Amino acid sequence: MTESAREPTQQVATAREAFEREFERFAPFWGGVSANSLTLKQAEHLARELTELRARHTGKKSAIASCKKLIGRVAAEDRASFGQLVQQTEAGIVKSLDEAEQALKHFIETARVERESIDVTLPGRRPRPGHLHPITLMRQRIEDIFVSLGYAVEDDREIETDFYNFDALNIPEGHPARDPQDTFYTTDGFALRSQTSTVQIHAMQRRGAPVRMIAPGRVFRRDTPDPTHNPMFFQVEGLCVDRGITMAHLKGTLAEFVHRLFGPETKTRFRPSYFPFTEPSAEVDYSCFKCAGQGCRICKFSGWIELGGSGMVHPNVLRAASVDPEQLTGFAFGLGIDRTCARIYQLDDIRLLFENDVRFLGQFS
Ligand code: DAH
Repeated sequence: MTESAREPTQQVATAREAFEREFERFAPFWGGVSANSLTLKQAEHLARELTELRARHTGKKSAIASCKKLIGRVAAEDRASFGQLVQQTEAGIVKSLDEAEQALKHFIETARVERESIDVTLPGRRPRPGHLHPITLMRQRIEDIFVSLGYAVEDDREIETDFYNFDALNIPEGHPARDPQDTFYTTDGFALRSQTSTVQIHAMQRRGAPVRMIAPGRVFRRDTPDPTHNPMFFQVEGLCVDRGITMAHLKGTLAEFVHRLFGPETKTRFRPSYFPFTEPSAEVDYSCFKCAGQGCRICKFSGWIELGGSGMVHPNVLRAASVDPEQLTGFAFGLGIDRTCARIYQLDDIRLLFENDVRFLGQFS
């Protein structure tokens, strides 16, 4: 080799070495990639890197391309051997790249097929059928009873104005009955309803009177959660307005309700109480479904379980909904759905109903 070829030959060696250094990490995959050495994702990544490597070492701007340009510059007697060297080096680089690419491609294809293959002999997975939430089951039982007594089921809004939650229910601003029903305020003038009694007004405005309806739904209060309280819970409201409705109808209706829910031997008891939207008002109890009034853990040894509040609709409430209290009278009641549910299933903590823990809920299928 003459002097004119020394430097270019060195450049070819440098180009080959630079390629080999970068190609080294692909070397293990030449001879075929073994499936457990690589994930599909890694292989796909490597294949992309290999494409970049090819562009860098065989492209127009690669070191070997520059060497090709030197062929014409070396002395005539060295030209043939130098040209051969460049070609062989380039061919070696391309061969290495091709082999690695083939191996990777093969590996990726096999891995994809494997991933997508289905073993039809594997046992199937049994679909787990869902079921209704205990509160929903309870609500449906209550609805069924009242629907069969001729009541319509109303579903109404959970965000309310002061008017529907309080004023129209004879609880004017400053009335102490607002305090225990403090709730969550949204935008100005709106709040989450603290009772389903709001639907009494909506129903009378919408349907006029006479009316017979129940309204199950969520209510909200600023309560600290404990085993018997939750800031969100479920009530069902009842309203019956017609000509000549008396307290006897109220007592008869709720007595019939507990007969159908707990059995015909169930007794009811009405205790005088106070609610701003009824006059007179009464708290309703029923004899314990477990001990029939003997006293047990469920009824806290009193023989009675509280059902809810009730009374004769206050004339101011009828007036607020444009119903003439001289013509029509009515009764109303409000029961706790989750409270009744907790009693029936003997839950020690009402919050279990709201935690959505499938280990708990799965017991009600
Ligand atoms: N809204 C009452 C409460 O949340 C429950 C209630 C009591 C509803 C008496 C009524 C009723 O309709 O007449 O405590």
